[in-house]
Amino acid sequence: MNAFIGVKKYLAELAEKAAGNIPVQYPPSQEMGDLALPVGFKLAKELGKTPKEAAEDFAEKVKHPLIEKVEVQGGYVNVFLKRPETAEDVIKKALAKGYGGGEKTNERVVIDYSSINVAKPMHVGHLRSTIIGGSLRRVYRYLGVEAIGINYLGDIGTQFGKLIVAYRKWADREALEKEPIKELLRIYVKFHEEAEKDPKLEEEARDAYRKLEEGEKEYVELWKKFRELTIKYADRIYRMLGVEFDEISGESFYVERAREIVDVLLERGIAERDPETGAVIVDFGEKLGKDVILKSDGTTLYLTRDIAALMDRVEKYDPKKLVYVVGAPQSDHFRKLFWIARKLGVDRELVHVAFGLIHLPEGKMSTRKGRVVFLEDVLQKAVELAGEEMRKRGTYNEEDARKIGAGAVNYAVLKVEPEKDITFRWEKVLSFEGDTGPYLQYSAVRARKILEKAGDWEFATPASVNDDEWAIVKKIAVFPEVLRDVVKKDRPHILARYVYGLAKEFHGFYDRNPVLKAEEPERSFRLGLVSAFHNVLTTGMELLLLEEPEKM
Ligand code: ARG
Repeated sequence: MNAFIGVKKYLAELAEKAAGNIPVQYPPSQEMGDLALPVGFKLAKELGKTPKEAAEDFAEKVKHPLIEKVEVQGGYVNVFLKRPETAEDVIKKALAKGYGGGEKTNERVVIDYSSINVAKPMHVGHLRSTIIGGSLRRVYRYLGVEAIGINYLGDIGTQFGKLIVAYRKWADREALEKEPIKELLRIYVKFHEEAEKDPKLEEEARDAYRKLEEGEKEYVELWKKFRELTIKYADRIYRMLGVEFDEISGESFYVERAREIVDVLLERGIAERDPETGAVIVDFGEKLGKDVILKSDGTTLYLTRDIAALMDRVEKYDPKKLVYVVGAPQSDHFRKLFWIARKLGVDRELVHVAFGLIHLPEGKMSTRKGRVVFLEDVLQKAVELAGEEMRKRGTYNEEDARKIGAGAVNYAVLKVEPEKDITFRWEKVLSFEGDTGPYLQYSAVRARKILEKAGDWEFATPASVNDDEWAIVKKIAVFPEVLRDVVKKDRPHILARYVYGLAKEFHGFYDRNPVLKAEEPERSFRLGLVSAFHNVLTTGMELLLLEEPEKM
C-alpha cells in the first residue's frame, strides 16, 4: 500500500471507531485538503453538539507522521498531507512493474463474453460483449485472480438445417475459403429468398436438421465445418482487438446434460410437466412468470443448455463468481438462469453485465435480409481513418495505424457505462484530442519521448511539491483502488474514466512545468513523475485493450 492510501486507511479506521462507517472523500479542490471526512454530521447527534464542534473534537485525535495539518470546515475534517514524503513513496511504488496489481491467488472467476453464433456475422452487440469481457479478463488477471474467458458459441438451432440445404445447393467453395462468413450469409439469405418461391425448401431444411440431430455423418461434418469457419473468422477479429479466451465451448456441448438437469428439476419439484402438452415448465414467480425448459418433443432450449453450462463451469473451475457479458435484452433470461442455479444450490456470485446498443452511422442490421454491418469493415474503417490522420502528421506506419484504429474502437466502447447506448461518430471516436483512445495513446507517446530524451537520471525528492505535481501524485496513488473497484462491480468504464482523468492531469502539468529544462532536484523528481505516469497510463491502457504506438 502506498503512503497516500495508508493515510486514507488510517483516517477511515479512526472515523470508524468514533462514528461508524464514514467514507473518506477526495475533496474537489486542493484548498479543501487532500482527504476529507464528513464526520461531524454523524457525531453531532450523538454528542449533542454542532457538527463543527463534533468535527473539531475529532480533529484533535488525528495524528499521523504524514499529515501536515488538519482543518475543520462545517462538519468536515479536511486533511492535508506532507507532500514531499508522500509523493516520494507513491512515485517509487508506481515506478515498479505490476504497480496496483495483486499477487497471484487461487481465486477464480469465469467470464462468458463474445459468445457469437455459428455461421452468422458477428454484429456490433457481440463487439461490445467481446471488448468488455476481454478487458475484464485482463483486469482480474492483473489483480491475481485467475479469470477464465469463455466463448460460448451459439452452435445449435434449426438454422443449421437451412444452412445445410443451402450449402449443398449454392455454396461457392472458393468464396467460402476466402470470406467464409460472407459466403455463409449469402447462401443463408438466398435460402430465404428461394423459400418464399418454393415452400418445399423449408420442409427440406427441417428434414436436414432432424438428420443432423440424429447424427448423420455428412451433416455433422458440415455442421463442424461451419463451426470451424466461424471460429477462424472470429479469431481474426479477436486478434485485431487484442481479446483472448481460455475456452471455446458451445451450446451443443450441453444438450445431454441439459436433459439430465430437467429430470433433476422435475424430481425436486422445481419444474413440472404440463399435463396437456407434455412440455416441462418452470414457474419463476410473479415477475418472471412461467417458461418452458423442455419442449414436448424433448428438445432443450437456450435456457436449459445455459443451466447445464453453468453447472459445468461451477464444477470444472470452482469459481467464486460467474460473469456473463451479454446485451440487456437478455436480462430476463439471466434472471431465470440465476433463479434456477440458486434452486440447485449454487452459492457463487452470479453477475449479468447487461449492456445497451451501439448505433453505427451505417444504420440498422438484419441478418435474414443480408443487411449487415460487418465488424471487419468497421475495424478496417477505423484503421484507415487513423492512417489518414497519421499521414497528415507525417507519422504514418502500418502497425501503429492498426493499434490506433483498434484502440479507438475499444476505448469508445469501454468508456461508456454498460447500460447506456453508444452512438459511434467516426470523427469523435478517432480524434486525437478529448476523451478518446488515440488521445490516451498520444499521451503515452508524449511521456515516453520525454523520458527518451532525458538521459540518465535518478529519482530525487525536492523540499516542496507544487499543485500540478501533487495533483498527478494523488491520481497515481489511487490507481490500485480503481482496479479493485472495476472487478468488484465488473465495470471497466470506471478504469476508462480514471485513465482519461489521469492523462488530462498530465497534460496540465506538462503545459505549465518544464521537465527536461528544470533545475535539480526538480528535474529528477519530475522525470520520476513522468515515468510513473507513463507506467500507470500504459498499464491502464493495456487493461483497456489499448496498445502504445511507436509514433503518432
Ligand atoms: N449466443 C448468444 C447470442 O448471440 C449469446 C450467449 C451468451 N452467453 C450465454 N451463456 N447465454 O445472443
